[in-house]
Amino acid sequence: MSRFEVAVSSGSYDVVVARHCRQRLFTDLELLAPHAKKAVVITTNSVAHLWPEEFTFRGERVERLLLEDGEAAKTYDTVATITSQLARWGLSRRDVVVAIGGGALTDVAGFAAATYMRGISFVNVPTTLAGQVDAAIGGKTGINIPEGKNLVGAFHQPLAVYCDPEFLTTLPERDMVAGMGEVAKCWLLEGRDATLVSAASLEDLVALAVALKARIVSADEFEQGPRALLNYGHTLAHALEQQAFGDAAALRHGEAVAMGLAFAVRLARALGRVDDAFVSETDAVLNAFGLSSVLPGDVSLEVLVEIMARDKKANHDLTFVLPGAEGFAVVAGISSDTVLQALMAFRSEHGE
Ligand SMILES: NC(=O)c1ccc[n+]([C@@H]2O[C@H](COP(=O)([O-])OP(=O)(O)OC[C@H]3O[C@@H](n4cnc5c(N)ncnc54)[C@H](O)[C@@H]3O)[C@@H](O)[C@H]2O)c1
Ligand SMILES: [Zn+2]
Repeated sequence: MSRFEVAVSSGSYDVVVARHCRQRLFTDLELLAPHAKKAVVITTNSVAHLWPEEFTFRGERVERLLLEDGEAAKTYDTVATITSQLARWGLSRRDVVVAIGGGALTDVAGFAAATYMRGISFVNVPTTLAGQVDAAIGGKTGINIPEGKNLVGAFHQPLAVYCDPEFLTTLPERDMVAGMGEVAKCWLLEGRDATLVSAASLEDLVALAVALKARIVSADEFEQGPRALLNYGHTLAHALEQQAFGDAAALRHGEAVAMGLAFAVRLARALGRVDDAFVSETDAVLNAFGLSSVLPGDVSLEVLVEIMARDKKANHDLTFVLPGAEGFAVVAGISSDTVLQALMAFRSEHGE
């Protein structure tokens, strides 16, 4: 079992990574939330049957709220459903919510927990790889509005996170590979060798990513500095996702991140920050994780550049996290032209 501490302003919390760690959650919770009288579970249809046992907390049956699966549930309506249900169950500020599901579920349940009675405690039990290595850790919670993904949210740190790799055995292959996009990002940020990927177990990979995220969030809870490095590969990824109109069936976040990583390293080379060998090593890592870095054929490169220029995380500049001689850094003020040229060169590598 691995346990990683995230030190934040509200106190520190643990991310546990271990097979079957979910079994001890409600027992641990009695100590983690000593003043709580009630705990409730918020989960989704596709996950509920993976853990059908009745839970008890302080000798009482734990109530369970079932939401719609995936991105469709990340709305104001769901927040209203959750908070009304918490009120009907009589949850007080001292009580605790347990969110069990993918990143979409932990995002919306976390946001509801952030606002119900001005914030109650919640525990995340991520059931997707993307959730375990990224979404469930770090306190970013939120929902989508018609104008854009994740435009409404709050920083609200969980009381604990339980990553049980056992949940991942039922995850569709495509979600598994997409989750590897974030793991590959962590692997690259840590400067690990591509040849070591195949020797790592799934639990090792989750632990590597969790350790990195725990360390970076502890250093920079509110993304004022080093936390931005976790956006490696994400400038292009966000633009690709926007072009897919947030349609996860067309393009998963992790798939977009893989393309973003392959592109970022090429942009770094175009700017003279890294050499050919560094680019080849990145490609080898992406390959080892089974990730494709080929841009979708129907995407307009000019439109991608336009979207990147107005990315909310980029302050209307073209900003990328890029590797360089002194490690990774946030590089601002890159001209649209340079980025477009690099995108065209990237696409032409695949003969288009
Ligand atoms: N808060 C953050 O820091 C952060 C970071 C990254 C991503 N996110 C968010 O996370 C979401 C994406 O998360 P995701 O990739 O986990 O997708 P998801 O939550 O949409 O889950 C994908 C699908 O898999 C189902 N599922 C979940 N666990 C399963 C299991 N064990 N077996 C079978 N099916 C299962 C879900 O119900 C859903 O239908 C996005 O909304 C994104 O914005 C948040
Ligand atoms: Zn991401």
